[in-house]
Amino acid sequence: MDFELDYLKDEKNGDWEISTVEISENFAKLRNLFENNPDMLIVPGKYKRLTYKKDVIMSNTQMERRTHYTAIKKAKGNVLVAGLGLGMFIYNIMNKPEVKSITVIENSKEVIEMVGKYFKDCEKIKIINEDIFNYKSNIKFDFAFFDIWKDISFDNIKDFEILDEKFKKIPVKFFWSKSFLV
Ligand SMILES: C[S@@+](CC[C@H](N)C(=O)[O-])C[C@H]1O[C@@H](n2cnc3c(N)ncnc32)[C@H](O)[C@@H]1O
Repeated sequence: MDFELDYLKDEKNGDWEISTVEISENFAKLRNLFENNPDMLIVPGKYKRLTYKKDVIMSNTQMERRTHYTAIKKAKGNVLVAGLGLGMFIYNIMNKPEVKSITVIENSKEVIEMVGKYFKDCEKIKIINEDIFNYKSNIKFDFAFFDIWKDISFDNIKDFEILDEKFKKIPVKFFWSKSFLV
């Protein structure tokens, strides 16, 4: 797996921005003082970050990498992905021989403009500008990864339930952060 996201250039598009941030040792130490969960510890280094109106939507810190790991390993067949973000998930599954197709549903056209261009040569990938709660398809998906949330919050649970019901025909589904909450 490769979580460095070296393909991404820093860029702004409307209220959205991809930027590179450096987390210093001192900042990481201070931040980690208040963290009891080892999975959430911050490691000093350079990271890529996606923000909306300066609010962090995602980054490629170790915590985010861990939350993608199992879904990357399990993805196979026709894959549905909700949330393009920085493309970290699709970058890590697009060359898996057992992944036949990847359909990405992303509701921000700005995110698609910034990130979609890095995947345009991959014939397996189709990116659709749509809200996942409205998306309908005749494709027989084998696997789905839902990653539309910016925080690990109990408020996400109602979305998990709605999406689980809406996509009940998909045999294997992963919801980002669900293992921390339920
Ligand atoms: C945390 S990021 C996704 C990270 C991505 N899976 C990756 O690997 O880089 C969340 C993304 O979901 C998108 N999003 C949020 N709500 C959505 C919705 N209802 N339907 C589709 N996309 C949504 C956001 O615009 C954002 O790009």
